[in-house]
Amino acid sequence: MHSYVLRANALLTFAVTILALMCAMATLSDNFNSPSPASQVQVLNIYRFQKKRDGNEEVSLTLNISANLQSLFTWNTKQVFVFLAAEYETPKNALNQISLWDGIIPSKEDAKFWIQTTNKYNFVDQGSNLQNKDFNLTLHWHVMPKTGKMFADKISMTGFRFPETYR
Ligand SMILES: *[C@@H]1O[C@H](CO)[C@@H](O)[C@H](O)[C@H]1NC(C)=O
Ligand SMILES: *[C@@H]1O[C@H](CO)[C@@H](O)[C@H](O)[C@H]1NC(C)=O
Repeated sequence: MHSYVLRANALLTFAVTILALMCAMATLSDNFNSPSPASQVQVLNIYRFQKKRDGNEEVSLTLNISANLQSLFTWNTKQVFVFLAAEYETPKNALNQISLWDGIIPSKEDAKFWIQTTNKYNFVDQGSNLQNKDFNLTLHWHVMPKTGKMFADKISMTGFRFPETYR
């Protein structure tokens, strides 16, 4: 009886050691994977651009978002969270970041996509800074691994501009 417990214990220790080793290898092999994600975003239409009663400007737009994030997926990837943010500078803040769309990519097969969508979240500036202002659209991603550390990166796309006049 005694030796049976000992044996089971030894087996368990062995299993845990192997598991730890596999986790370490998974994390390590992830570090060797240098992903090359790509994204393209077009603003198809800014169909509303107004100053609200409280003085803050609001923008409604239609976006064409395409991306290929397949290289982010390894066998250690659980899922990838993505969001697209409008980023611009104002006198008050060097970086204003407003999330326009987000999604969870569950698998490599889903990591190559394009969608046409209006902004999922309200785009309201803290003030009225937007007329004729340049902005970036940045695709951010957070890779959630099965084991090891989460990591994040982004692609910034430049050359967008808000209209000169309200519509
Ligand atoms: C949207 O993007 C996709 C992929 O880049 C492209 O094939 C399609 O023509 C675009 N649609 C419009 C309306 O520009
Ligand atoms: C927009 O992107 C460019 C290029 O990555 C960067 O130099 C600039 O600081 C960005 N602007 C904002 C407001 O984040």
